[in-house]
Amino acid sequence: MAGWVWPELLAHRCGGALAPENTLAGLEIAARLGCRAVEFDVMLSADGQPFLIHDETLDRTAGRGGRVAELSAAELSAVDVGRCFHPAFAGETIPTFAAALESCRRLGLAANVEIKPAAGHDRQTGQVVGRMLSAAGVAGQQVLLSSFSVDALVAAIEEAPDLPRALLAERHTRAALDTVRQLSCVALNLSRHWVTEADVTAVCDAGFAVMIYTVNSRAEARRLLDWGVSSVFSDRPDRLSAPVTES
Ligand code: G3P
Ligand code: MG
Repeated sequence: MAGWVWPELLAHRCGGALAPENTLAGLEIAARLGCRAVEFDVMLSADGQPFLIHDETLDRTAGRGGRVAELSAAELSAVDVGRCFHPAFAGETIPTFAAALESCRRLGLAANVEIKPAAGHDRQTGQVVGRMLSAAGVAGQQVLLSSFSVDALVAAIEEAPDLPRALLAERHTRAALDTVRQLSCVALNLSRHWVTEADVTAVCDAGFAVMIYTVNSRAEARRLLDWGVSSVFSDRPDRLSAPVTES
């Protein structure tokens, strides 16, 4: 399994809180801030095309009704998710996964691709993501797969067995670590809300990395990295993008 690059900072949902989430504009801002890596969420349209979006509905990011899994690729491509964030971003649309991968390649950004299936679409979403990455010949230095959904992650691994992957969980548990082992993951990605230094030590001692979401202060990032955490996901890459390893 080719190696993930282990950046200490990943811009969460592309550009964190500095651009509409999960957009190409976010990727541009992350790159401009000097980020080497981003995280984004991938969900399928009604006709099975992968798009960058976190919620199953359009309410929060587009300010209108509609369920992602019930809208076609053509319909989703026309949805403005910029205006709700700030009028300066009006016209920014929901990008396809393919467009995001191309932007990452052009900008030199590594990507943690979080497979975010709409309810009931776990395996299909993992399959589509894995197949697309495999067909594109994407290397492990460029992409880390992850998901809260074990079914989605397994389906993606079947399609792209050489890509590094991580299991997402809210908390460190024995069951989560067992799954990390079974799926030959490289990391367990945990919430900042529950993680303790003992959790990090236990996961690292078991031979896996720990990545923590979502960390928006330099002091907290510093503390987590000192505990042995490999990476943090941040909505404020501007605050953290000066090297967090500096004392
Ligand atoms: O992948 C880390 C983080 O994005 C997981 O939480 O809900 O922001 O996708 P969420
Ligand atoms: Mg995510």
